[in-house]
Amino acid sequence: MINYTDKIPNNIDLGRDRVLQRALEHWQPAYLNWWHDTGPTESHAYDVYLRTATSVEPDGWAQFGYVRMPEYRWGIFLQPRDEKREVNFGIHKGDPAWQEVPGEYRSTLRRVIVTQGDTEPASVEQQRMLGLSCPSLYDLRNIFQVNVEEGRHLWAMVYLLHRYFGRDGREEAEALLDRRSGDTDNPRILGAFNEPTPDWLAFFMFTFFTDRDGKFQLCALAESAFDPLARTCRFMLTEEAHHMFVGETGVTRIIQRTCDVMKENKVEDPSDVRALGVIDLPTIQRYLNFHYSVTLDLYGSDVSSNAANYYTSGLKGRFEETKINDDHLLSEATYPVSEVVGGKIVVKQVSALTALNERLREDYIREIESGVSRWQRVIDKAGIPFRLTLPHKGFHRAIGNCAGHFISPEGEVLTEEAWKNHQHEWLPAPQDHAYVQSLMSGRVVEPGKFANWIAPPGRGINNQPLNFEYVRFN
Ligand SMILES: [Fe+2]
Ligand SMILES: [Fe+2]
Repeated sequence: MINYTDKIPNNIDLGRDRVLQRALEHWQPAYLNWWHDTGPTESHAYDVYLRTATSVEPDGWAQFGYVRMPEYRWGIFLQPRDEKREVNFGIHKGDPAWQEVPGEYRSTLRRVIVTQGDTEPASVEQQRMLGLSCPSLYDLRNIFQVNVEEGRHLWAMVYLLHRYFGRDGREEAEALLDRRSGDTDNPRILGAFNEPTPDWLAFFMFTFFTDRDGKFQLCALAESAFDPLARTCRFMLTEEAHHMFVGETGVTRIIQRTCDVMKENKVEDPSDVRALGVIDLPTIQRYLNFHYSVTLDLYGSDVSSNAANYYTSGLKGRFEETKINDDHLLSEATYPVSEVVGGKIVVKQVSALTALNERLREDYIREIESGVSRWQRVIDKAGIPFRLTLPHKGFHRAIGNCAGHFISPEGEVLTEEAWKNHQHEWLPAPQDHAYVQSLMSGRVVEPGKFANWIAPPGRGINNQPLNFEYVRFN
């Protein structure tokens, strides 16, 4: 069980480690200042119907009630230790899982943890203005739930930094509160986390595409030989599932509403659809293309000696490592990666060890494909002849073998000029952003009401009715 009487709720017996407790109690006010300055705008006095973890057991962890977000019980929760856990891959395979950081991997592990940790506050910063244009109280509550949990994920990584990395770790924990999404001088570490999330369609796309990258990174880290990291990530994954739910159902509801309006009014042309105040399907496709492509970059280079080293040394495994039936060393195996040769995309075999980024990206893509096909079903059911498609994985990439090439969504290698002539058919144009923004000029806060551009959800949170007062503004 989690002890909520402590200043910092935890299930790690924090009170027994006075030095660590003091260090974290020192970091806590800095964290709250960060939340105050860059957390959800104007939200500090709201009472929000949030879930809070009460235990890390799968059946007992959610408790719902009104919480003032600055008083949310952010804390440190790890999955319980399995004394028998072993290293499952790489050159240390078969050793007992590490309870402390081996000296030779210290700086690499710290980098891995900082990079993951940096994404958590970044997304809160990216989303901070969206409360002012929420389509309903239900959605407002959901974004706040996502935000407080991203804050908790920051706590999770900061705990590891403080507990296992000494002074360097404490400095990194402070730097995590200093960087800002989109800042020119001190930006967040990864590209997609410096992109603006200007509207709710972008937010839902982000939580569908980019939070799912979070899931796959956490799954790979949950295999780590460094047991505290693995246990931390396992608990974070239970929270991540809700973020992806918010994204997937959010886009589904937008598509549903658009299809309903198109059918009711017998219109198909995007400008007629827009005239009815809903988001046309081609615009949804362009948002999808954008969020998918910038998220694919987060997996890194197709061929990477870093990825090979992380794996060989046991720091970061593959998705569902223990379910894979091979030697878990990959010393002989090969894996196909794409590259551009003479104006064509060709596939070549490389050492599987160096292709682990690409492999994780492809695991991710498989899950994305099924989500997109669920969106497609809404359109098919409405009898509308429109296909949502995933662009080629080389489209609009800034990292990896396709970076620097001009690849169409169909996977054709084009000249820069030809590509640029089409880019506004493929990616949101300023007019698309302006249109979507125009729909979201104010917030909808009457319980049970939803903005015109989105359908209500199938059911409320924690079995509450849709007209439940999910947020009280006071
Ligand atoms: Fe997260
Ligand atoms: Fe998330």
